[in-house]
Parts: sequence; structure tokens; C-alpha cells
Amino acid sequence: MSELKVGLAGLGTVGAGVVRMLERQKKALIARTGREIKVVAVAARDRAKDRGIDLSGVRWHDDPVALARDPDIDVFVELMGGDGDPAKAAVIAALEAGKPVVTANKALLARCGADLAARSEASGAALRFEAAVAGGIPIVKALREALAGNHITRVSGILNGTCNYILTRMADEKLSFDACLAEAQRLGYAEADPTFDIDGFDSAHKLSILTSLAFGTKVDADSIYVEGIRSLTLADLEAADDLGYKVKLLGVAVRTEEGIEQRVHPTMVPKHWPIAQVSGVINAVAVDGDAVAVTLVGPGAGGDATASAVVGDLADLATSAGGYAFGAPAADLVPAERAPMQHHEGGYYIRLSAVNKPGTAAIIAGRMADEGISLESIVQRRPARSRDGEPATVILITYATTEEAVRRAVAAIDAEGVLASVPQVIRIEKD
Ligand code: NAP
Ligand code: HSE
Repeated sequence: MSELKVGLAGLGTVGAGVVRMLERQKKALIARTGREIKVVAVAARDRAKDRGIDLSGVRWHDDPVALARDPDIDVFVELMGGDGDPAKAAVIAALEAGKPVVTANKALLARCGADLAARSEASGAALRFEAAVAGGIPIVKALREALAGNHITRVSGILNGTCNYILTRMADEKLSFDACLAEAQRLGYAEADPTFDIDGFDSAHKLSILTSLAFGTKVDADSIYVEGIRSLTLADLEAADDLGYKVKLLGVAVRTEEGIEQRVHPTMVPKHWPIAQVSGVINAVAVDGDAVAVTLVGPGAGGDATASAVVGDLADLATSAGGYAFGAPAADLVPAERAPMQHHEGGYYIRLSAVNKPGTAAIIAGRMADEGISLESIVQRRPARSRDGEPATVILITYATTEEAVRRAVAAIDAEGVLASVPQVIRIEKD
């Protein structure tokens, strides 16, 4: 029986999870692939660190690039992270040496995915990245293979486990943002720099990969409109709840007449929608095709969930050559256009902290009317003990309108000097 000899760079949450899973599932993987998938060499920063895994008999490399070029490995697995070196240099070195690469590194793919795909084709070495999007959900394989017969019009979903975990625990248990983020970090969900999670960039990296797979574009995270969850407060989540919504950080890529609109932002979704019930670290990805519409739901982060996707790619490589990284030749991928966000249409939640003086309500309603925005509801929330001069919270829900009308109306209200802090605007998805 031939072995598939693996060189593994990165032995953190995901890397250690892969080592454990390959050991735990050894017999089942041999039965399925006819080969033993065996880690023979590793690289990480700290050789002395206790990782709770058995690395006896495994070669250690201090330099991940040297590991990638190790003549005694068949496949290189990159689980270090980061969109620069050593991850980038090591992946390129492996591809140039003709070794297939498996990576969970969405930041690297978002920055260099098209270039890496071209290198993969040039050398004939596969580039696989199931773990880079939505953790354990096999959405990359679904888009690249199972849904290949569909004309896809929309891909959307909850793409970041850390943010969904934070929003769920804040809403359900009234915990602070910082406490929930700290717990997500402790559980191994968050990126090494968690601002990537909470400011929406990790979701954007994943969405750029999904867009490439679904629409045949070059991976380009810069063409995505991005807002994160940092500014959301318990007050927003409670107001959403009162109004019949949950707040989710959604990534959406949709065909429009102006190109592929790609956006990541907090979104209010009706409570009865299935996606509103996707809680904690769970992710969901919905694909609308002309033949089928499917939604895949599963754990979006964590050692085991992500290892499941990495090991799935390794099992594929043990039995096949791999195919095109993004489902089409790299030369055929077209540039991703940035559809203008100002033309986005939908309902909006707008929370204003308004100076408590005569005429403020009339100004707010007037500036909305000036932009032709029709209000579904306007609610003034009083603090439990209001004092003279203390700002009042005013929550507006609009009927469908455009992003540019909302931005102009909010700017016009601000120019009247009646706002005490920066307005909060959340887009609403409705039936
Ligand atoms: P992690 O726990 O921080 O582990 C990173 C590993 O890479 C560590 O073992 C570290 O070595 C090693 N490393 C970092 N810089 C290195 C360098 N310059 N040279 C050699 N080794 C280096 O990260 P993780 O959570 O496992 O994530 C790894 C990758 O998977 C990232 O691309 C991440 O975005 C992606 N991902 C993570 C998850 C998740 O749930 N955690 C899910 C999907 C995808 P030391 O241990 O010696 O410090
Ligand atoms: N930090 C990422 C998340 C890991 O929370 O979704 C999975 O990609």
C-alpha cells in the first residue's frame, strides 16, 4: 500500500486538529482511499511547545519553505495563516516543486488566489482549500463539482463563526461584546488578529472565494463592500428582537444588471427565516441556481470542524489529481466588478441618538421625506430615568429604498445639528 506523505506547516488549532483526526480516522481513511495519509514532516515556530499530539518519528523543519520543498513529502498542507510570507512563499515553493497544496488560508487566497491557481495549473499540482470557507461545510466542493450544472444567481450566508458566536451570545445572554469575543478566542474560533473577524474582512475573504467559484471571477476581496459588527450594541440587538428580527453578519454575492454585487454587513433578518436560527459558531451558505437552490449549514470554525475539511481535501488528493482550483482555468477567470453599493435597494433600520428638543422629530421625518423614504415605523425609546437634555434614542424602520437615499437623508439630519452620536444603519432583508 502506498502512503500519501504529508508535510504540515502550522500546528495550532487547525494543524493539531488535523494530526489528531488523521490518527483517529486512520483505518477508515485507508479503507476509503486505499492509502495511509501520514504526516511525515512538520513546521511551526516553537519546537518545544506541548501541543497534545504525538510527533515522534516526524521530521521537524524550522523553515516552512524548506518543508514545502522537502523531497520526501507528496503533499504540502499550509495551516499557518497570513497573506504574506512564510505562508505565501511556502505555498509557491510547494507548487513549483510539483507538490499539491491544501490550505485553510482564506486571507492568502483572497490576495493571491488567481496567481496561485495559475501556478497550480502550470505545475500540474493541485491547490485545494475546502477549509478556507465556512469551516466544516463542504461548500467549495459543492460549488466546484456538485453544482457545476447550475447557472448561479446568488451566494449568501453567515461566513464567520466568531461574529455569529458573538451576536448570538450578546442577544441571548445579554453579555458584552468584549466578553463574547474573548470566549471565541479561547475556543479557537477567532483569527490570530480578531479584527479580521469583527471588522468583516474574514467574511469578505471567504465571499471573494465563493464569488470566484460561483461566477467565474478572479478572487478579489477589494471589490467587496465591507462593514463589520464592531459598532453593534445590545440596544440594537434588543430593538431588532422587539421588531421581529435577528441581526446576522451576512456575506452576499448576487448577479445584478451592473455586475456582481458583493457585500458583507450586519443584516436584520426576520426571526422566522431559517438563517435567523443559525446560532453560535454555526455558519450557513445558501446557493441559488437555476436548477436547484440549496443551503448548507454546519460548524464554521474550530479545530475539529476545520480539520474535517482539510482531511477531506487530503482524501481527495489520495485518489485523484485535483482539477482546477476555482473550477475553471485561471486564464478564463474574469475580473470581479464592484457593483455600486449606493444602488442597493431594501429596507433599513436607522438608530439615531437625537437631541431632545422641540422640532427634532419633524426634522428627522422631513429629511427622510425629502429623499422620498417611506417610514414603516418610528419609535422613540426613553431611557429608564430620563434627564433634561439627555439625547433620546429614535429608531426608524424604512420601507424599501436605496442606499444612496438613506445616506443622504442621514447626512442631512446630521447637518441640522440634532444628533448626539454617530447614527447606526443596518440593512434589512425582508420577505
Ligand atoms: P493558530 O492556532 O494561530 O496556529 C498557527 C500555527 O502556525 C501555529 O502552530 C504557529 O506555530 C504556526 N506559525 C505561525 N507563524 C509561523 C511561522 N512564521 N513559521 C512557522 N510556523 C508558524 O491558527 P489556526 O487557528 O490553526 O489557523 C490556521 C489557519 O487556518 C489560518 O489561515 C486560519 O485563517 C485558518 N482557519 C482557521 C480556523 C479556525 O477555526 N481556527 C478555521 C478555518 C480556517 P507555533 O504554534 O509554534 O506558534
Ligand atoms: N475566524 C474564522 C471564523 C475561522 O470565526 O469564522 C473560520 O474561518
